[in-house]
Amino acid sequence: MNIAVIGTGYVGLVSGTCFADSGNKVTCVDIDEEKVGKLKDGQIPIYEPGLETIFARSQREGRLNFTTDIAEAVPEADIVFLCLPTPPGGDGQADLTAVMQVADQLGSLIDEYTVVVNKSTVPVGTGDRVEAAIADNVDEELFDVVSNPEFLREGAAVEDFKYPERVVIGTGSDRAAEIMTTLYEPFVRSGNPIIVMDRRSAELTKYAANAMLATKITFMNEIANICEKVGANVDNIRRGIGTDSRIGKRFLFAGIGYGGSCFPKDVQAIHHTAGQHGYDFKIVDSVMEVNNAQKVSIVKKMEEYFAADDFSGKTFGIWGLSFKPETDDIREAPALYIAEELVKRGAQLLAYDPEAIGTFKQATTQAVLDNTTFVHDQQAALNDIDALVICTEWNEFRRPTVDNFADEMKDPVIFDGRNLYDLKRAKKAGITYISVGRPSIN
Ligand code: UGA
Repeated sequence: MNIAVIGTGYVGLVSGTCFADSGNKVTCVDIDEEKVGKLKDGQIPIYEPGLETIFARSQREGRLNFTTDIAEAVPEADIVFLCLPTPPGGDGQADLTAVMQVADQLGSLIDEYTVVVNKSTVPVGTGDRVEAAIADNVDEELFDVVSNPEFLREGAAVEDFKYPERVVIGTGSDRAAEIMTTLYEPFVRSGNPIIVMDRRSAELTKYAANAMLATKITFMNEIANICEKVGANVDNIRRGIGTDSRIGKRFLFAGIGYGGSCFPKDVQAIHHTAGQHGYDFKIVDSVMEVNNAQKVSIVKKMEEYFAADDFSGKTFGIWGLSFKPETDDIREAPALYIAEELVKRGAQLLAYDPEAIGTFKQATTQAVLDNTTFVHDQQAALNDIDALVICTEWNEFRRPTVDNFADEMKDPVIFDGRNLYDLKRAKKAGITYISVGRPSIN
């Protein structure tokens, strides 16, 4: 099939490349000339495991092309994917400026039947708006607008795209449904379903999935908080309930809260949509409140441990700045908030992250920059510190194991926001180890 992908951000680039990899001819469009120039040269602006190889092969074989001219890509295309940014607007709802600007241009570029697909995460009803904008300039018989939300995780996007657990297609048109099903069939050969539904349900499915996952994490974080009060261990609770297939083992890891560009934005947006329709979506309101508190809960533990709310004269090591491992993304990362709170209390910081030092520096406050030394290996963040704070579960922080802290630090005190280490080993190693929802080792 001939596919146009409008927007070469994260979703557009991964989708375009994976569609090209499965034998389609894909033209990706972006208004950013510099970016398109680099992509034409084979330079990929994001890091995603596995992307480089299939990008290079598809480009070499002529199935993956780039242009800044939308008029070059759309008339040829059987399917046009809109993968445009929908940042949070001032009112907590996604800002649709980019999507609508493109929709306004599409009608005059379509001259044969074309399926227009919205892949960006957009509020319920956006498909109707896109349809109306296109219909201003072209006969309604010549196109259908479909919602096809993506469920990719950063760091595993290619894998998620190639082997989706499900594909959701929202359309009332049989013709569009058939074309979309044909496109996705190669990705679900293992038998996973392509679920065709109405467009509004598909749009809401995306928000419901992210809100459910954010709620699941938050529920476990609250259980962890209760564990700390009653002297239980959240790891045991996780195993005890996760084996019930109705609950499931995944996304039950307590920690210092969820972050990233998706969960916080989508939870807020579904709350807003419900409110607009006169429904008070209470559970997600609590999820947001609990998550905000959870992000800085570790600072409270530090105040308790040091019996002070003034950390002047103290230096803390920070391991991990990104919102999760395998990415340099620091959007809504707990480390941003923790660093700010610690510096507010007079602390100096020694911070290390394998990928995210650059992005963290751009996003943090001047006060944090003035009081933080960024170091380029994890050992260096342990030099003469009063305590280590672990904010992200990068694999390399699991090794060297907890036993080594006693060699590396004079009097090791670890505040672990991601529960990396085994409690028995921490005890044996003779360190002070305070984690989330598990008994403290002193
Ligand atoms: C999330 C969803 O998992 C994807 O399905 C979705 O497509 C994507 O949002 C999106 O809407 O684009 P992502 O934000 O990349 O993907 O990251 P996740 O791996 O889901 O992690 C989100 C946050 O939850 C991280 O801060 C992580 O540390 C936290 N988390 C995750 C926990 O605290 N505990 C867990 O058990 C799992």
